[in-house]
Amino acid sequence: METSQTSKLADSRSKRKPPAQRSQTDPHGKGYQLKNISRAYKSWLLPYIKSRFRPGAFRPVLSFLFTDINCNLSCHYCYSKGKKIPGMTMEVAKDAVDWLESVGCKVLAYMGGEPLVRKDFIIELTRYAKEKGFFIYLPTNGILMDKAFIDEIGKAGVAAINLAVDSVEGYDGIPKALCRIQSNFEYLAQQQQKYGYLTFFNINITQKNIGDVKALTETAHEYGIGTDYHINEPPIIDYDSFEDLQDGAWITEKEVQAVDEVIDWLIKKNQQGYAMVNSLDHLQAMKRFIRHEWPPWSCRAGELSMIIRLDGSFAPCFELYGAEENWGNVYDGPQFDLAKLRNQKKECSPHCLSTCNYQINHYTRGMLYSLQWVAKHAYGNFLGTS
Ligand SMILES: C[S@@+](CC[C@H](N)C(=O)[O-])C[C@H]1O[C@@H](n2cnc3c(N)ncnc32)[C@H](O)[C@@H]1O
Ligand code: SF4
Ligand code: SF4
Repeated sequence: METSQTSKLADSRSKRKPPAQRSQTDPHGKGYQLKNISRAYKSWLLPYIKSRFRPGAFRPVLSFLFTDINCNLSCHYCYSKGKKIPGMTMEVAKDAVDWLESVGCKVLAYMGGEPLVRKDFIIELTRYAKEKGFFIYLPTNGILMDKAFIDEIGKAGVAAINLAVDSVEGYDGIPKALCRIQSNFEYLAQQQQKYGYLTFFNINITQKNIGDVKALTETAHEYGIGTDYHINEPPIIDYDSFEDLQDGAWITEKEVQAVDEVIDWLIKKNQQGYAMVNSLDHLQAMKRFIRHEWPPWSCRAGELSMIIRLDGSFAPCFELYGAEENWGNVYDGPQFDLAKLRNQKKECSPHCLSTCNYQINHYTRGMLYSLQWVAKHAYGNFLGTS
């Protein structure tokens, strides 16, 4: 399978023009790298340092804003599959941005569902948040993306675009395939320097696409973009009408060896300087996680990160989107009880390898780690991280 996916990709590569920027060790200009380092310093590191000087105050560094739960695709592993729910209103969205600004948070990550089911909404909100100095992160499956949108969102000031692509050609229940978005992906990668945003492939490693991970990683590297990997996880709590617990392509015992082999390869590539969001530590942790040998860990959800739901209410993380506990909202403020949350995490964290919360934990271990996180935004190998 891996060989056939790699050769399909090689086939499709030979039919298209080679990408514009090239030099695997330095795929981007210095101006672009410095701009990204400076933006990461202002939006990630400074707010984090400030939060450490006010330990009693709730000052998240990263907030996910669910603009829509609806989606144009139906990935079998996802809670969004088949949902039809009205999206967040612009009023709530702007109030959420204002509230985040008031608590010193400078990283606004859209989440869904698929944010591009309402492209005009996303462009307007991006302009609004950019005016306030936010680092804006847009995850998308890319299917609804076109060149006009890429130019508009680039001009609006998006900082990072996380393009979810699980395979080269797609599988039943795994519809995010590079072949469906090839020409718009190339345009997105080409426009990085012009608009100054970062681009990543976001790859969810499932039972079905293990053989595609290397090919997608090599393509990302070839185009001068980064990568971000998740292990496909069954939901921690019951979501309304989530039907695919049996059919979510979760990693089972049968796939452990193949996943191990891919992870070892990714670790080697990370060490060679391939730009990856995941720390080496997180890649290593995946091996224990798929063996169900993962111990409780210090997740900082509800402290340094949070989510804002469609109606403006808060929760610690995606995994707890459907939980009924009251954690506050944009209008009444937060109600995260840290002692209680830490207790709850003893139960949930051994079943969760949340990529974003794991990186937050890793890169806030000490100042050198935090500087490494900032350096990652240059897409180069700085301070021993790539
Ligand atoms: C829910 S999607 C929303 C944004 C966009 N539609 C997308 O696909 O990226 C965000 C990320 O969650 C990941 N995701 C969804 N369900 C997951 C699961 N069961 N386990 C691990 N990651 C999952 C997706 O692969 C995607 O990278
Ligand atoms: S993972 Fe993204 S693209 Fe797939 S169903 Fe969920 S929201 Fe849609
Ligand atoms: S470990 Fe953290 S991210 Fe995972 S479910 Fe628990 S609180 Fe949420």
